[in-house]
Formats: sequence, structure tokens, C-alpha cells
Amino acid sequence: MSERAAYDELVKKTRDIQLLVSTAGVLGWDERVNMPRSGSQLRADQLGLLAGMIHEQFTSPRIGELLSKIEQSDMVKDPESVEAVNVRELRYQYDKQTKLPKSLVEEITKVTTLSQSDWMTARKNNDFKLFEPWLDKIFGLMRQKADAFGYTGEPYNALLDEYEPGATTDQISQVFETLRNELVVLLKKIANAPKKTDKSIVEREYNVELQRVFGESVAGALGFDFSAGRLDVTTHPFCSGFGPGDTRVTTRYNPKRLNDALFGIMHEVGHGLYEMGINKEKYFGTPMGDAASLGIHESQSRMWENQVGRSKEFWSYFFPQAQRMFKESLGGVTLDQFYGAVNDVRPSYIRVEADEATYNLHILLRYEMERALLNGDIKPKDVPAEWNSRFKKYFGIEVDSDSNGCLQDVHWGAGLVGYFPTYTLGNLYSAQLFATAKKEIHDLMSRFERGEFLTLRNWLKDKIHQHGQRYRANALCQKVTGKPLSHEPLVAYMNEKYAGIYGF
Ligand code: CO
Repeated sequence: MSERAAYDELVKKTRDIQLLVSTAGVLGWDERVNMPRSGSQLRADQLGLLAGMIHEQFTSPRIGELLSKIEQSDMVKDPESVEAVNVRELRYQYDKQTKLPKSLVEEITKVTTLSQSDWMTARKNNDFKLFEPWLDKIFGLMRQKADAFGYTGEPYNALLDEYEPGATTDQISQVFETLRNELVVLLKKIANAPKKTDKSIVEREYNVELQRVFGESVAGALGFDFSAGRLDVTTHPFCSGFGPGDTRVTTRYNPKRLNDALFGIMHEVGHGLYEMGINKEKYFGTPMGDAASLGIHESQSRMWENQVGRSKEFWSYFFPQAQRMFKESLGGVTLDQFYGAVNDVRPSYIRVEADEATYNLHILLRYEMERALLNGDIKPKDVPAEWNSRFKKYFGIEVDSDSNGCLQDVHWGAGLVGYFPTYTLGNLYSAQLFATAKKEIHDLMSRFERGEFLTLRNWLKDKIHQHGQRYRANALCQKVTGKPLSHEPLVAYMNEKYAGIYGF
């Protein structure tokens, strides 16, 4: 068999597997958007069957044989060629998947299914004691998982690597810590600032149907192609790129809060534009047809949501339209007041409701805690006390209950340890990439004032989307911005913006 024939067979196999993955994606989308409650057992059986098929096909020894054959050939000599990228990333995935013993995968699935149900009860009743034994079990399983994968440095690296390939605690901790210290200072400045923002402006009556019309017109202006995508309603918004020509985003509407759907749509559309910008017609089913990492994915959503969607220039174009649409609530409001309201900063308990400035502090606290739990530096029983004392230090307020503290997120109970950092990585990459875009497109912000967003969309497509997994996240960052990941662009962006709004 020639090496070319081996490569073709490999691609044929991974495309077929990706068809199964995208089929599961459609079923998962339907589960969250349309499915009647009583369909959940059938759906779990369908998705379970597909997951088993996908795992079996991807870990078959034939995939390993084909990879070995191609790895010896000239096809992978140029590390940036399509073939070399696909083989490098498939090898990486294959080794990971085959290293995990089936018994451990099953144990993790079983334990996290049960623990999530107790977590829900524990959060509802503010009952940490109910959840504590699960934390112990799950972090034990996570240590086993890290051992199975293998790692350099600390076990956390093995888990982080699953969500952000190539990232290590050495690489990110310094950046995170500096960011945390800067944010604590920024929050103090905002708290003591002479000017205040009026959040109540965006907490008036906002007709849901009009919110949908407005949201769709914003999505279209940003470049979301409704002939190749849809916007639907769910409780927990998400984006799912099924494959070529079909990208789904969802949102939720609150008749008394404009921000939820509006910024939620821009966020998910940012993910959607990434999915649409990857050349899936050509590369579907291979790593070249997939996003670089969760952190890079999140950088795209946060850029459209924050750097673009919360900018003064964006609103100088869209605010008059919003005012016409929501006359009752926005008729007497000025652009500056509205801009202040959508950028309101105040410390709060709940991560998913946090503003742009405090959000990363929520993440950094979780990152520190889960690392310490995995290393055994803190014990599950100490989680509430540890959480609350860090919270006080970073946010300046006392946590009033574990439900509003260490019990609020599903991640640990679901076995998603190592996932949290990708949110902050997304914010950091977003600021760093956007600063470069502004440098390279000198009139970028004034384009926003004219409602022209496609220049940025095309820049992102060219610099990031079209490359799929050609570059790992930190290499991509270096290539596009000329520098490794840094706290500086995000800190500079926030200080400049909030100094303007709060007058410090
Ligand atoms: Co996101």
C-alpha cells in the first residue's frame, strides 16, 4: 500500500467518524431546542450508541497502522502542510483516546451522572455535605485519568491539555496571576470612581419578539449567514457547528433584561462565525476542518460580544435603531447612558451573570481551587472555607451561601476539571488578537460606526479561521500577534475603557 493510499484511507475513516459526530450534534441540538421531556431516555440511548461507535471506530488498531505508515513518509515533511497537520493532530487524539482504559471511562461516566444529580439537590438546598463525597471521588478519578494520559510537571497539565492542547500551568499561571492582581486593583478603582453607571436602563420592559428581530439584524450585520445557520431558543445558550453549510446558535430571552439575549447572541454568533469561517467544504472530518482550541473558540465569541458589541462605536451605529425599536424603555436615554449601562461593573456571586471585568476573577479562583484539589493541597471538606476566603480577597464581598459560592457550577460534578481556564484564555486571546486587528486595520473602529463589520470578520477568517488546527493556540497567537500570550492587551483594554466610563 502506498503512503498516499494510506492517507486517503485515513481521511475516509475520519470523515465517516465525523459524520457520526455531527449526527450526535444534531441530536444534541434537538434535545436542547425541541425535544419533549419524555424523550430523554430514548435520546440518551441514541447518543450513547453513537458515542460508543465513535470511540470504537476512532481507537481501532487500523487508525494506528495508517498513522504509522504515513508518519514515515515525505508527505509530512513540511510541518505546516495539510497532511502533516492532520497526521500530527490525529496521532495526538489517537494516543490520548487509546491510553484511557475503558473501565476508567465507564467509571467516570457513571460517577459523574450520579454526582450531577446530587449536585443539583445540594445547590438547591445549600447542602455542601451532600456534594462533598462526590468531590472526593471525582478528583480521585481525575488523578487516575491524568496518570493514564501521562504528564510533565503536575497532573493538572494532563487535564488542561484535553481542552487546550499544548497549554501547561507553567505557561498560563504567571499570566493569570498578574491578570488577577491587576483586576483586583481595577475593581477598587471602579468602586471608588466619581462616575456611576445606571444598570436599570437595560432592566426595563423589552418585548421578546422585538428582541429577536433586533438580535437577528445584529447577527446578520456581523456576518452570520442565515442561509447556512439558524438561531433558536434554549435555556443554556450554545453554538454547534454541524459541518459544511450548517451552524446552529441558540439564545434565551428575558422580557425584563436586554443584555441576556443581545450579548448572548453576539457571543454565540462569534463562535458561529468561527465555525463558518473554517473551510469545512474541503477539510470536514479532519483536524484542518476543526477549531484550534476551546480558548481560541472563546476568543472569537468574546471579541464579538465585548470588544465589538460593548464598544461605543458599535452603539453609535446601533443605538438609534434600538431606540426606535424599544421606544418606551430607551426613548429618553442618551448613547452615553446606554453605553454605561451595557458596561456596568459590580462584584456579584454568580459567574455566568458576571460582567466583563469581574468575570475573569471568577475563573481564576476556580483555576486555583481545582489545581489545589487535584494536587491534594486542599481537601474537599475545606472547599467552602477556601472558596469564601479567596472570594473575599478578590471581590471584596462575603459569600452568603455555598449555593452562591462553591456549589454554583456544574463543571466539577460533571468531571470537567481543567476546563475553566479556557474561558480566561479566551478573554486574553481575544484582547491580544483584537489589539493586532486594530493596528493592522487602522480605521477599524470607525468602520463599526458605519455598521461595517465584515472587514473584521474577513481578517479573522484569514488570520485564524481558515487555518483550522494548523497551529496550536499559543503558536497561532505568536504568529498573528507577534507575541506569546500576555496579560497586557486585556488589562490595557479594560483600564482604558473603564477609565472612560467611570472617570478615574
Ligand atoms: Co462561549
